[in-house]
Amino acid sequence: MVIISLFVRRKQFLFYESIIDALRRIAKGDFNVSIQIPGNFDEGPMNNLISGINEMAADLNKLESMRQDFISDVSHEIQSPLTSISGFARVLKEKGLSAEEREHYLDIIEHESVRLSRLSENMLRLASLDSEQHPFDPVPMRLDKQLQTLILACEPQWIDKDLEMIVELKQTTIEADPDLLSQVWVNLLHNAIKFTPLKGTISVLLEADEREVLVRIEDTGIGISAEEQEHIFERFYKVDKSRTSSSGGSGLGLSIIHKIVQMHQGSVSVTSNLGEGTVMNVRLPRAASLVSL
Ligand SMILES: Nc1ncnc2c1ncn2[C@@H]1O[C@H](COP(=O)(O)OP(=O)(O)OP(=O)(O)O)[C@@H](O)[C@H]1O
Ligand SMILES: [Mg+2]
Repeated sequence: MVIISLFVRRKQFLFYESIIDALRRIAKGDFNVSIQIPGNFDEGPMNNLISGINEMAADLNKLESMRQDFISDVSHEIQSPLTSISGFARVLKEKGLSAEEREHYLDIIEHESVRLSRLSENMLRLASLDSEQHPFDPVPMRLDKQLQTLILACEPQWIDKDLEMIVELKQTTIEADPDLLSQVWVNLLHNAIKFTPLKGTISVLLEADEREVLVRIEDTGIGISAEEQEHIFERFYKVDKSRTSSSGGSGLGLSIIHKIVQMHQGSVSVTSNLGEGTVMNVRLPRAASLVSL
């Protein structure tokens, strides 16, 4: 009898030791922890506690792997322009380069520097939006006027590519944060222009009923496959991952759009056919201030 009780106590002791060990590992940042509940152990509250610890460790593990992916994406995005900048700066030191060659290398350096600065700007914007400290000031605003102004501001880019711009904007007032919303339209318009070859067409449509508005930005560009569509709103996701891609983005534009639309309690969706074009639909409630963040 004494031997059995000693045996049970020893098993209990080992079990509690394993819990303490797991908690120590979690505290040190090792989240690969799963506490095994002994077969004959049926203490309800203790079982719940152990399941709780195991779930917490699994969640922390997921967060940690997201953090590591994020760091590796950021390093990759920073590394690639820096490699070009330092490489071409070295080439520029060589003697005997023609004026055109010099100009060409300087253009690349300038282009890559702009790309780096846009990357840091977008990362700061996302971090600020994520922090939930970002100001969100919905006011009544004329959405049609905002879209019109931004389309005109992009004119040099679409004229440059000889794109046809079709615009159909219903006069609409909504309650929204104008600064945040303008980033949504600018990012969508820039994508439509960037991913549409010369002489293509972009159309911007604004419709509204008493509850919500729909902004549709459609292009006749390269399109996105069904498989890729599932990922394009993820941070740093780009369909064309080649470092030398002329599009030169960092894959953050749509994540920013997604976040801002979410803050307005709206939704953004994509429909697209590879090689035919892309449609981006943004739906927003007429009064964002009425819905809590
Ligand atoms: N209108 C579009 N047509 C075709 N592909 C698109 C379109 N919009 C987005 N994509 C695809 O989705 C990816 C993610 O878009 P996103 O705007 O987030 O990043 P980006 O434009 O590459 O870079 P950034 O916006 O940060 O400068 C793009 O790299 C592109 O592959
Ligand atoms: Mg973009």
